[in-house]
Amino acid sequence: MAGANDLIIRIGGEGGEGIISAGDMIAQAAVRSGLEILTFKTFPAEIRGGYAMYQIRFSHEKILSEGSGFDVMCCFNQEALDVNGKSFTDGTVLIYDYPGGDIAEEQDIPGVYCYAVPMSKIAKEDLGTYRSKNMVALGAISELFSISMDSLRATIESKFGKKGADVVEINFKALDAGKNHIRENIDKKDPFKMDPGKPQEDVIVISGNEAVGLGALLAKCRFFSAYPITPATEIANFLSRHIPKFNGTLVQAEDEIASLANVIGASYGGAKSMTATSGPGVSLMQELIGMATMMEVPVVIADVQRGGPSTGLPTKHEQSDLFLAAHGCHGDGSKVVISPEGVEDCIYLTVEAFNVAEKYQVPVLLLSDGSLGFRTSSIKKPDPSKINIVERDKYDPASGDGGYKRYKLTESGVSPMSAPGQPGGNYISTGLEHAESSAPNYTPENHVAMLDKRFHKLDNIEDFFPATEFDEEEGATVGVIAWGSTIGTAREAVKIARAEGSKVAALYPKLVWPVPKKALERFSSKYEKILIPEINKQGQLAKIIASETDIKPISYTIYGGLPFTPRMIADKIKEVI
Ligand code: COA
Repeated sequence: MAGANDLIIRIGGEGGEGIISAGDMIAQAAVRSGLEILTFKTFPAEIRGGYAMYQIRFSHEKILSEGSGFDVMCCFNQEALDVNGKSFTDGTVLIYDYPGGDIAEEQDIPGVYCYAVPMSKIAKEDLGTYRSKNMVALGAISELFSISMDSLRATIESKFGKKGADVVEINFKALDAGKNHIRENIDKKDPFKMDPGKPQEDVIVISGNEAVGLGALLAKCRFFSAYPITPATEIANFLSRHIPKFNGTLVQAEDEIASLANVIGASYGGAKSMTATSGPGVSLMQELIGMATMMEVPVVIADVQRGGPSTGLPTKHEQSDLFLAAHGCHGDGSKVVISPEGVEDCIYLTVEAFNVAEKYQVPVLLLSDGSLGFRTSSIKKPDPSKINIVERDKYDPASGDGGYKRYKLTESGVSPMSAPGQPGGNYISTGLEHAESSAPNYTPENHVAMLDKRFHKLDNIEDFFPATEFDEEEGATVGVIAWGSTIGTAREAVKIARAEGSKVAALYPKLVWPVPKKALERFSSKYEKILIPEINKQGQLAKIIASETDIKPISYTIYGGLPFTPRMIADKIKEVI
């Protein structure tokens, strides 16, 4: 809830009413006035209809998560009131479409500041276009909480400019109509307002998905192939605009299988290559992930997780592909799975995904998720000169004594990789088991030697990968281990629990397969109870950690398609203590 200049505004209504655009515009306006933002949106799989929600958290401080609940709820319809009404607390502000919308009664809720704004009526009757209802709401919100109208006008211009000057004009009018309605009819009693922050230099506002695309470009990815799937498509959209500027290539394939086949081919040819998909796409890619493992070809697969299994909840949030990412593909396939916590991390962990893929010549799965992929945050513009890029161990034609062994058994397990056409560097790249020379070979000794090689090369990955972050606490008996976007929520929950008198430590692994054994064992040797909150039914990381270490974690799972709130994890910490 609101702290010093920490405000959470949620907008809810029917998909198609422009909830998402309205939220995006408030977010952009807030950044222009120097505020930190973190957004969360959820909407139905349909193009129209169903409940859509957009939430923006503003602050003058760095924001770690979506927060617990909201301070202001703007309801475009009765459904939004029904869905969110149970979360109203003392001091909540309710802005609602009344009279003239589908909310039948005037709202008078004890402890809640209720502001009726006839947004549908104003849009339809005064402005003649229902479409601009969301801008009426925006004008009201801007007036109530001192969000800059100039910034909002600038965002209307940039977002709707391509729809024509008349659309921009009508939306400016709607914005003013909403503002004037508040000025003329509402006596503001709530304490909330957003004081402008200090405008920050070098700040960019991007989504988690766009950050993955940006990280790929910074890692020198020059080939991308994918098939559209919610909630991952925005990565392809971003790269389709930008990869050509770096002389890179993007191919939209006929399906996910072809996408990964394209990526493997491009990497075999020497290009850093990537695909992006969601759970259903990773399921289709399993055979080719096995092939990339067998061929020891570096590939990066971004999996923006959604509610599963099968078609599941395409636009909802889950962290439920870890078993698939770690243990998928038949046979013993060596691969690496890493998972970013926030938008900024999506940039740098995508760079690390390429560094790992190229150094160890393995498939790397980068597990983002629906809440993170769609989230927009204001982050520091990355400085390419500070980014460490790892290149693959390349075959040197000058060393070619004519006996190039693509799969030479080396000390590290990694063997130099040639590119097609290099003199003396030709080899057979095949999914068949093969000898050091790359010729197919099925002898028992060879299969053992090659399987050992493909696993041995990852033996020290924990030392190569950025160190797992500890948040120690003297005297604590409970430690929290969180992964993926749940880390941000866990950070905030630990802060709340400590502020309320609990002693608790935390560990935030980004490398989730192979598990960072040394960090896990060091952590569990200090804290007797290990709590693992994650968003899936089976407690997937908890089970993987229990199978790979002596830790017996306490698994805390939710799987309703929404993220944890810090309050939920803080309460669980106290319960475990
Ligand atoms: N004036 C003019 N146009 C406006 C407007 C205004 N005041 N407010 C919004 N719009 C436009 C938006 O620009 C957008 O147009 P676009 O589609 O050309 O970009 C459109 O109206 C929808 O508005 P938006 O705010 O983006 O979304 P919404 O809140 O109305 O919800 C969605 C609609 C997002 C739910 C729907 O578009 C969608 O994406 N559904 C999910 C599809 C999906 O991923 N399914 C899963 C398949 S597996």
